Amino acid sequence: MDLISVTAVEGKAGPGFPLEYPKLAGVDLTDIAGFSKGQPWDQYARMRAEAPVMWHEERRFGGPGFWAVTRHADIMSVNGDPDTFSSQRGGILMATGNADQGHVLLRRASLDAMINMDAPNHLQLRREHMPYFTPAYLRALTDRVKDEVTRLLDAMEAEGRELDLVKAFSSQLPLFTLCEILGVPQEDRPKFLRWMHYLEMAQDLAMRQATEGVTPTLELMQFIGEFNNNVEEMFEYGRDMLHRRRADPQKDLMSAIAMAQVDGTLLSDEYLDGSWLLIVFAGNDTTRNTLSGTMKLLTEFPDQKARLVADPSLLGGAVSEFIRMVTPVIYMRRTATTDTEIAGQRIAEGEKVIMWYGSGNRDETVFENAAQLDVTRANADKHIAFGYGPHVCIGKRVAQIQLEEAYRQILARFPNIQWTGDIDIAPNNFVHAIRSLGVSLG
Ligand code: HEM
Repeated sequence: MDLISVTAVEGKAGPGFPLEYPKLAGVDLTDIAGFSKGQPWDQYARMRAEAPVMWHEERRFGGPGFWAVTRHADIMSVNGDPDTFSSQRGGILMATGNADQGHVLLRRASLDAMINMDAPNHLQLRREHMPYFTPAYLRALTDRVKDEVTRLLDAMEAEGRELDLVKAFSSQLPLFTLCEILGVPQEDRPKFLRWMHYLEMAQDLAMRQATEGVTPTLELMQFIGEFNNNVEEMFEYGRDMLHRRRADPQKDLMSAIAMAQVDGTLLSDEYLDGSWLLIVFAGNDTTRNTLSGTMKLLTEFPDQKARLVADPSLLGGAVSEFIRMVTPVIYMRRTATTDTEIAGQRIAEGEKVIMWYGSGNRDETVFENAAQLDVTRANADKHIAFGYGPHVCIGKRVAQIQLEEAYRQILARFPNIQWTGDIDIAPNNFVHAIRSLGVSLG
């Protein structure tokens, strides 16, 4: 099968053309520890104003540097031109070959997935997923999501007045929904939570390994051991399930992935790993973090929360605004396939172009008072948190259903619920991963 492959070489050392915009002092989008305080909204704003296509060094990752694209319109044009800006040529992560993924299986699998492919193979794999994201399928799923929200809120109420929303709710609901779509048996579902915890730490781990070098601490060695065990268990589970579905197909997404063909051939084990990792991560983590981030926002903007409590019919539209404000996928990378130009900046063939979605979603030329939560914002659905173009998120309706139903029931049942101020965000510049969020039910 002529599939693959993300070119396993780094982008070209750049910049190949003179800079049109300054390199801004104090801007560092590779400082992953900094992202544990939240996204660098102020740095994004400076870049949009002074250097919307900025050459960014990449010493921390040992890479050749990249172009940081921060304006909404420029991100749309990069995403809308996949022939010039390839997902396949270097993958969608900052480090080519995903050097920031701390395990060889993880590294390989995070390349061998449709999100890292260009036409035509990308479309062949994407098409296989589609039946599980149609309106008819999702209508039936909605009822199951509603019941699960009620069950989780019952359990929260029984637990006490103060709790960790991530543990009690935000990590549970997306996991339930994804497992329903995939067809994962009930008893296996808790494993997914554990795997997710380690996946969110992959970037930090790779950085620590690089910093601590040949004499890592005992604590780091132990963590690496646990990390590797979990990653291996996750892939073993996926391969085993997918092979079983090949032998005995069911009406679920797992079977669709297992039976997917590219150019008439079933996927190799490497591609099964890739499809598995993509769906487990993309289908879980993003919605989880938006659920948590929304609670923080509703506490920070109490007038907006009061409007939703008074008129829950606003929730349908408000969900786009929640997703715009949180933007849980921080960036996506492309690689230029030819010499080109963005906003007057010439880009050389082979150079990396990284689109900062959180920045695009705070672009004042599109969203007035962009830093304010506005649950009736008329153009909130112009956000680019789901990407745009051929790779636009396949699960966006699934996310909408969960967020809408979650907050409909949360606000009806606990109108005084509040974030307590306790928060723990993973050091990660790719996903905004909220690991715990204290709430009081009021
Ligand atoms: C708030 C929730 C979510 C956000 C913000 C989000 C965001 C994204 C983004 C930014 C992309 C990449 C687009 C690009 O290349 O620019 C993507 C792709 C994808 N998402 Fe989501 N996502 C969410 C929920 C989900 C859910 C619930 C699922 C599945 C159940 C899912 C499955 C996928 C898949 C399979 C892809 C790859 C599509 C492709 O390469 O063609 N996502 N998502």
